[in-house]
Amino acid sequence: MELYLDTSDVTAVKRLARIFPLAGVTTNPSIIASGKIPVDVVLPELKEALGGNSRLFAQVMGSHAEQMVADARKLRAIISDIVVKIPVTAEGLAAIKILKKEGIPTLGTAVYGASQGLLSALAGAEYVAPYVNRIDAQGGDGIQTVKDLQQLLKLHAPAAKVLAASFKTPRQALDCLLAGCESITLPLDVAEQIITTPAVAAAVAKFEKDWLAAFGVQGL
Ligand code: E4P
Repeated sequence: MELYLDTSDVTAVKRLARIFPLAGVTTNPSIIASGKIPVDVVLPELKEALGGNSRLFAQVMGSHAEQMVADARKLRAIISDIVVKIPVTAEGLAAIKILKKEGIPTLGTAVYGASQGLLSALAGAEYVAPYVNRIDAQGGDGIQTVKDLQQLLKLHAPAAKVLAASFKTPRQALDCLLAGCESITLPLDVAEQIITTPAVAAAVAKFEKDWLAAFGVQGL
């Protein structure tokens, strides 16, 4: 499977790249905007923080295919192997088709429905990103959407992968993985929660306390 962080925080990526088996980093316009660092600065910094063999994802702006395609070329000029995120709107689908012909890999994003996601894969997107928590927040079923999308891709667009996104809890991510999802992107707080369970810290502290009481040293 591929595990990504959904962030543009370079310091956090450096820290977590040491700990997690990361495949790379995903971003979106809101994430980049929150850091207030322009893409031509932050994307190379993220790439360097990740080290070799990792994938970066960044999103185009604009509501017309021509502008999305122009933005995609700009992003590729900044990072030559970046995967370009395209919202799966009518114009976005047109942009994905053009970029496929140009050999630029894309991810269909802002996916709230399985058929919408399938269309982006059929247009040529390499990844499709269903928004699990946002679907749940609308009264839908994010995990079921992921399952439906996976089944649709398997049947009709087997070259494309689900990259599940928009998580608020580790449980949502776990349910996606149990459903067979092959790639996920986690926001920093959810990634941190997975490795900072209070019970684990308490168990390790008790081992240390018992050892110290018996032998007077902390190491073996
Ligand atoms: C990924 O493609 C999305 O940009 C992102 O995961 C959305 O997450 P949010 O719902 O937490 O904003």
